Amino acid sequence: MNQPQSAKTALLSRLREEGRVVVMGMGYVGLPLALHAAEAGMDVVGLDISPRTVEGLNKGMSHVEGISSKRLAEALSTGRFRATTERSALTDSDVVLVAVPTPLGEGNTPDLGAVEVAARTIQKWGKANLLVVLESTTYPGTTKEVFLPLLQGAGLCLEENLFVAFSPERVDPGNREYDIGNTPKLVGGVNGDSLELAVAFYERFVDEVVPLSTAEAAEMAKLFENTFRSVNIGLVNEMAQMCEALELDVWEVLAGAFTKPFGIMPFRPGPGVGGHCIAIDPHYLDWKGKEVGFFSRIIPVAIASNEEMPAFVVKKVCLILEQTELKREDASVLVLGVSYKKDVEDWRESPILSLLSLLKEEVGQVEYHDPFVPFLAVETEEKQSVPLEEIATYDLVILAVDHTVFQVPALVASSRRFLDTRGTTLTWGITDEKVTTL
Ligand SMILES: NC(=O)c1ccc[n+]([C@@H]2O[C@H](COP(=O)([O-])OP(=O)(O)OC[C@H]3O[C@@H](n4cnc5c(N)ncnc54)[C@H](O)[C@@H]3O)[C@@H](O)[C@H]2O)c1
Repeated sequence: MNQPQSAKTALLSRLREEGRVVVMGMGYVGLPLALHAAEAGMDVVGLDISPRTVEGLNKGMSHVEGISSKRLAEALSTGRFRATTERSALTDSDVVLVAVPTPLGEGNTPDLGAVEVAARTIQKWGKANLLVVLESTTYPGTTKEVFLPLLQGAGLCLEENLFVAFSPERVDPGNREYDIGNTPKLVGGVNGDSLELAVAFYERFVDEVVPLSTAEAAEMAKLFENTFRSVNIGLVNEMAQMCEALELDVWEVLAGAFTKPFGIMPFRPGPGVGGHCIAIDPHYLDWKGKEVGFFSRIIPVAIASNEEMPAFVVKKVCLILEQTELKREDASVLVLGVSYKKDVEDWRESPILSLLSLLKEEVGQVEYHDPFVPFLAVETEEKQSVPLEEIATYDLVILAVDHTVFQVPALVASSRRFLDTRGTTLTWGITDEKVTTL
């Protein structure tokens, strides 16, 4: 059922002309969203529970990849953006975007705790005639079955003055070509009016808005996108292991296959997957399938294939060391790169954390160098990035993340032995006996 036309029309005209927006969660997703909306002329408040994050933002210091402090300072200086921890900011907003974490809980099940807290906060502080859009990645049914019921209550009612939609965020940290403005934005509403308002809102700052018929379809589309990546990466990772068993060079095999100009898409093997999306989202989908009695065969296999990769890298390390005079317990290893992917500082869910702890069980000394990650907390141990100048002192160097700044020929030249888990030495055309590829 749709809402009274007067409520919708009033909000629609506010969204088309000005619009006051609150973005809940000032992280990798929320901050870029907030700045895009502010730059489109809306008044935006970034609401976060972390006083440290808020303080930094209000001082013009960006903590998010791809968002420069200069851009943040410009938004602050126009008066169209500010950050706060005060939930009262919600009282005079027209739109609330929710971009809070959706991590995994015990047994790799969805943890919607932050989404639920956000919904309760909006219910308490939001005013009538409000559009609320959930941007956090989650399983199909969350918006309608979990989020909406918590939003409704005193003062906010779907049938009267509340509009609710889901729109997945597709931000790709470190990507210089695509941002929120030029990446098509999927939107699904809990009803037709909610969809119409959400589309009108995003059209203010996104080139192409793609309406889907339901919030569930939009939730599912997002999970499919990241599961697609998980499955394909899982496949090439399995190929890496199979090629080794068949004594074939996986890089040559894949390079050959990817010359086909149609019907194939390049994916590369590596030490595993990480980050807030590919390492988590397939679990959400797998869990939801089981909820309705559908047991995916492909998703768990892909997850397992990716999760095996740190151990596969360690197996290679052991093979390399076996060919030397060195005893493993006396060997030292330097891991280059610990972030979950190249050119970013985010090491959440990074597979290199597993690699470091597995290596620790096998060799005497394990250190890392990452220009983006000066400090790291692995299990109970805190580690510090060691200077690259020390590279020659290690028995083996592992290229774990192919950061663009890594001058791989020079790194290989200064190493005693070099294990390339990303195929980067091939891209550089390096042929050196001390290099082993995954
Ligand atoms: N990082 C990515 O590349 C990416 C891409 C697409 C989608 N997503 C999804 O977007 C969502 C947010 O991810 P992120 O990477 O931005 O997370 P993040 O951890 O970088 O930021 C989340 C922010 O939310 C704040 N927060 C938590 N609870 C809050 C509450 N109740 N009210 C206000 N603020 C609150 C935290 O303090 C934090 O600053 C997740 O669902 C994630 O899966 C992330």
